[in-house]
Amino acid sequence: MKNTKCIVDKNYVIDKIDNRIYGSFIEHLGRAVYTGIYEPGHPAADEYGFRKDVIELVKELNVPIVRYPGGNFVSGYNWTDGIGPKAERPRRLELAWYSIETNEMGIDEFADWSKKANTEIMAAVNLGTGTPQEAGNMVEYCNHPSGTYWSDLRRKYGHNDPYNIKVWCLGNEMDGPWQICHLSADDYGKKALEAAKIMKWVDPTIELVACGSSNSKMPTYPEWDRVVLEHLYDKVDYISMHRYYYEGENGGTTEDFLASFVDMDRFIHTIASVIDYVKAKNRSSKTLKISFDEWNVWYQNKRTRYPWEIAPPILEDNYSLLDALVVGGLMCTLVNSADKVKMACLAQLVNVIAPIFTEKGGRSIRQTIFYPFKQVSNYARGVALKPIITTPKFETALYGDAPTVQMSVTFDEENDSVCVFALNCDRNEDMQLSLDLRSFGNIKIVEHVVLDGEDLYATNTFDNPENIKPRNMELPKDDNNTYDICLPKTSWNMIRFSTR
Ligand code: AHR
Repeated sequence: MKNTKCIVDKNYVIDKIDNRIYGSFIEHLGRAVYTGIYEPGHPAADEYGFRKDVIELVKELNVPIVRYPGGNFVSGYNWTDGIGPKAERPRRLELAWYSIETNEMGIDEFADWSKKANTEIMAAVNLGTGTPQEAGNMVEYCNHPSGTYWSDLRRKYGHNDPYNIKVWCLGNEMDGPWQICHLSADDYGKKALEAAKIMKWVDPTIELVACGSSNSKMPTYPEWDRVVLEHLYDKVDYISMHRYYYEGENGGTTEDFLASFVDMDRFIHTIASVIDYVKAKNRSSKTLKISFDEWNVWYQNKRTRYPWEIAPPILEDNYSLLDALVVGGLMCTLVNSADKVKMACLAQLVNVIAPIFTEKGGRSIRQTIFYPFKQVSNYARGVALKPIITTPKFETALYGDAPTVQMSVTFDEENDSVCVFALNCDRNEDMQLSLDLRSFGNIKIVEHVVLDGEDLYATNTFDNPENIKPRNMELPKDDNNTYDICLPKTSWNMIRFSTR
């Protein structure tokens, strides 16, 4: 058996993990909202029309923050369409995804849903067709207590208390020609600056996210990020990153796909370097952080659907075991970047490229990617540690040699918990992981849970919802706080320890 050696020292701390890296995303897109989280008349719907079965699954994922309402959608969205009596709300042609938007759900309903789902909102404002003034109005509507036009309107519509939405995205993917009213970096920088000023004057406690590059393949990357940050560095708190992966991207092999974490890691390092550059150039003392607010595996192509329909079933990827392994590897990178990435959103949450999949009027299931996300979001708490890893390399076409085992280790001192997450990319052989945890003193292994299987393309379906799910491994013996653990071939592993 091949061997990977990992020495963990509890003092080698990367940083405290901001739990908001386990965020997700709900966009007015396809069936994410309608027949996803909201379906009046569904047998599991509550008095608001929210699907309770979906809320239970969201709670199981333990998602601390959800980005809303888009995505590409937000760049053509007038947020005032979604407030007031539902019967009077306009139906619109929605141009980002060629759909009909009924506006039955708006910010008030989403605030209600978020409470029920135990999550915060990361709101996005429209900097496509929208104006800085409209963005400021939305902050006032959501966060100002009372006594002004917009705050009193919120109260009139039944929400006495402000929502106190802390995080606001200044538009979405404004570097993309597909975006409604796409801008150059310079024009976006100027517009976003004016929006940021108004929004922070209305509520100085909010945090702002500037649009970074839509992905690392954009022709304007990473120049876009530099220009935008030179305009906005002192006014914003985060720059966004987005990246989706799929098998076969750029002619890559399955090995390349498994090694997607290498690409994500490089992308994060590049943007962190741009941040450092602009920090120095602007003579600033603050270090901006990253909001990786769209990431996932995504296959199905975008924006191709006519005729006009309400909530068409688009971008409904059915994820395989292989996709789940890749998601696990990407999550390790996010944890290992705890010093740079303070928020991240798995895009998206329900039906649209999502871990939760629903039938209109029917069942809801956990997709394969549900499991690594759930494990990491529930257990990778406290601080991220920097383990010293010696692992064989494997060859990829796109990224050169990649580590066969991708890992992250977390230490939650308050809860006496150490967690090791490991993706074994070896497709032919199990891997022995020799884990040295002696720095913790007394430690005992609690569980080793693995996600693997003979068929990498197996999926969960409504008729076979538990086809792919984690299984428990036999626990290895403790040899003076060192362990030899078997990571099965092509597998995702969570190994938990207690220091109590
Ligand atoms: O998440 C789906 C889409 O991907 C979002 O609307 C957009 O921001 C990105 O291109």
